[in-house]
Amino acid sequence: MKNIRNGIILSVILSVFYLFFIAGSSAFALSGKAVFKSAGCISCHTINGAGGKIGPNLSKIGSKRNIAWLRSFIYNPSKYFAPGSSVSLNGKTYTVIMPPFSRTLSKAKLDVLTTYLESLK
Ligand code: HEC
Repeated sequence: MKNIRNGIILSVILSVFYLFFIAGSSAFALSGKAVFKSAGCISCHTINGAGGKIGPNLSKIGSKRNIAWLRSFIYNPSKYFAPGSSVSLNGKTYTVIMPPFSRTLSKAKLDVLTTYLESLK
């Protein structure tokens, strides 16, 4: 009887550890870095050497733009730069083509993404 009870206690403890593990990995999935990849930003933008070159390098974006600007811009880029025109950012010229992410990126993902971008200084 005692062995059975100990077995039950042990499996409860293991399940709790397992749940912490699952919760930990889903928190990781919602990191700003992961959203930067999964939302497709990385196909046009480079951070710390990895990513595309269609848009400006964002490795130090946090020292240039604050979180309110980033939130507003990512949901509605055409409010800041006219689509199809040319814009000069960090000394390079880009054709304005960034799509709006208001329909594809949830508020929760926008939060972790912009917190991450603002930390890049
Ligand atoms: C199809 C390519 C493309 C994708 C995808 C894209 N961008 Fe852009 N991004 C650009 C271009 C080009 C610009 C220059 C201005 C514009 O197009 O509005 C830009 C500008 C920016 C800027 C302003 C940079 C500065 O120096 O002020 C930020 C911040 C930014 N993008 C973040 C993101 C984030 C975050 C994502 C993903 C949610 C993303 N972009 C997805 C192409 C892209």
